[in-house]
Amino acid sequence: MFDTTSSGARIELDGLTKRYPGQADPAVDNVTLDIPAGELVVLVGPSGCGKTTTMKMINRLIEPTSGAIRIGGTDVLAMRPDELRRHIGYVIQQIGLFPHLTIAENVGLVPGLLKWSKDKIARRVDELLDLVGLDPAAFRGRFPRQLSGGQQQRIGVARALAADPPVMLMDEPFGATDPITRERLQNEFLRLQRELKKTIIFVTHDFEEAIKLGDRIAVLRESSRIAQYDTPARILAAPADDYVAGFIGTDATLKRLALIPVSLLSRSTSTGTTTGTSAAATDGLPQIAGSATLRQALDAMVAHGRQEIAVDGKVVTFAQICASVTGEQAGLTGEQAGAAGEWPVSGVR
Ligand SMILES: Nc1ncnc2c1ncn2[C@@H]1O[C@H](COP(=O)(O)OP(=O)(O)O)[C@@H](O)[C@H]1O
Ligand SMILES: [Mg+2]
Repeated sequence: MFDTTSSGARIELDGLTKRYPGQADPAVDNVTLDIPAGELVVLVGPSGCGKTTTMKMINRLIEPTSGAIRIGGTDVLAMRPDELRRHIGYVIQQIGLFPHLTIAENVGLVPGLLKWSKDKIARRVDELLDLVGLDPAAFRGRFPRQLSGGQQQRIGVARALAADPPVMLMDEPFGATDPITRERLQNEFLRLQRELKKTIIFVTHDFEEAIKLGDRIAVLRESSRIAQYDTPARILAAPADDYVAGFIGTDATLKRLALIPVSLLSRSTSTGTTTGTSAAATDGLPQIAGSATLRQALDAMVAHGRQEIAVDGKVVTFAQICASVTGEQAGLTGEQAGAAGEWPVSGVR
């Protein structure tokens, strides 16, 4: 058994292969992937490329044809599947709440299987409902049909977190929700993950979602073959081939700008470069918060027809934004400028 306490565990896939009977091509072909403890890795690839099959092999809903899986150094294929699954959180697009069980019973399912006391389960359920932003008093006694899709999806996440597993598998968990709910769920989930630091494999076919959520992204071809495995910034700056470039689309530069907080440039101006820092210098300029991204700053410039913008009392210019893409920004430290996509992405998402 791997260490089942709360913080994340490394996941290693080694030559993982699945052949379904009667099919010429393997559904998953020889996938090798090393996922560091506490990171969120996104598998992104077209429908039918083998993402779900890959995930289900990790929690052994599907038995691999060959290859190895280790979690926290432990050989998962040597474990009892039902025992293994109690220590891996699993969230799917269809949510899969039991309709005849209350929200509390749904969330408390795995702790119950693990023989926690009733009191401990009740406390854990309330704590989790709080964590996912649903009032325990109002929700614990309801049934799934009495919740909206977005609320049900939050319960799905709470249920997966119930026994505090080191590993979470999330298979297109926000795919079925409308764009607004989806963005809210993504943001809440990122905030949660920053606290919880689980090791998470997150599947999507949406590259925008992959950049927003992933510490790293594995771009998959057919049969889950890995086209590129790297940070979002490096994939955007240097796609491995035309296939990966096709996934990114035609606006790779704007997508890179969306990974950088505008505060990075406003900070550099305060250390004494060309632009002014006095109140007068920002008079009449469009304002934007330091937590906004360079993409949002650019959007505001275009919207106002200006080449300068005020960020927390400092001026950021269009030229600075352009220079930040090529890493030639005067006054940026090497770490800040980071040519070839070494952007410090944390905190921007
Ligand atoms: N139980 C199964 N039996 C036979 N073929 C399957 C089964 N499940 C999936 N497949 C096939 O394996 C391939 C990968 O499917 P899947 O892992 O669901 O892809 P994805 O999640 O990326 O859409 C598809 O061609 C699919 O038709
Ligand atoms: Mg799938």
